Amino acid sequence: MASVETASAPRDGHRVASAAESGQRGGDIVCSGLYKWFGDSPVIASLDLYVARNQFVCVVGPSGCGKTTLLRMMAGLASIDSGTIAISGQRVTEPLASVAVVFQHYGLFPWKTVFHNVALPLRAAGVTKGEAARRANDALKLVGLNDIGNQYPAQLSGGMKQRVGLARALAIQPEVVLLDEPFAAVDAQTREILQEELLALWSRYQQTAVFVTHSIDEAITLADRVIVMGAKPGRILDDIEVPIGRPRSVASVRRHESYAPLREQIWEQLRGSSTAGGERG
Ligand SMILES: Nc1ncnc2c1ncn2[C@@H]1O[C@H](COP(=O)(O)OP(=O)(O)OP(=O)(O)O)[C@@H](O)[C@H]1O
Ligand SMILES: [Mg+2]
Repeated sequence: MASVETASAPRDGHRVASAAESGQRGGDIVCSGLYKWFGDSPVIASLDLYVARNQFVCVVGPSGCGKTTLLRMMAGLASIDSGTIAISGQRVTEPLASVAVVFQHYGLFPWKTVFHNVALPLRAAGVTKGEAARRANDALKLVGLNDIGNQYPAQLSGGMKQRVGLARALAIQPEVVLLDEPFAAVDAQTREILQEELLALWSRYQQTAVFVTHSIDEAITLADRVIVMGAKPGRILDDIEVPIGRPRSVASVRRHESYAPLREQIWEQLRGSSTAGGERG
């Protein structure tokens, strides 16, 4: 289900490699005074958000509040009408090589094997063949797919395709990875397994991550911070720290004493936002 979009021009390849080699993988994200209009009404208004290097931030909010729009602006895939976004100090005006995006739909190359689906973006980013193979195998092993590197996407289940997408995004070792509901279309059990694998991948690669989800459980499981957005116009209602240490597992998060109160807090915010921004205007 995941598709990865990166600016893969070789001219920028050195930025990907140097970020990984220096050990400073994450980049920070600074959104200042963001506005986005579709037609006459602003979809995003006066939005400020700072995401520190190597932080994992989840964004939750009612349908239509502008989560995808915000992510697309960060990815350089949607124009910014007013305000600025900078990633690692670089102003976003187009897709940056240091940023990978994982969407809900698959976007794997059907005519390439699993291994080549992961290795290809690395080669496009200027990584040598041997290093690309090493990184692709490493990432596939982390998501439990190292045995099926020779298979083609059509031979895989939805959950497996999503794993290939995740491995591909993180193996590029971008400074920032942006994920828009990547697990929304898989069954509940597969979703928990994928969350577990993403926790493992993230602790291995430590990129800065912004992950959009409708699931409060998923947000608490994965995030250092949960950003709660409200609608009409899209804005930040709350910015909640998740006081649960790492390494984490889905089970350890659910057992944590902070889990239930956090869940309740976020749920209350969302309930408030959907009535304030929705029917009651
Ligand atoms: N290209 C577009 N043209 C016009 N309106 C758009 C466009 N893209 C998004 N919108 C509108 O902007 C608002 C925010 O959309 P967006 O997709 O960012 O919401 P979202 O929070 O991601 O919703 P969901 O949770 O359903 O995915 C919606 O009202 C949507 O209809
Ligand atoms: Mg969306």
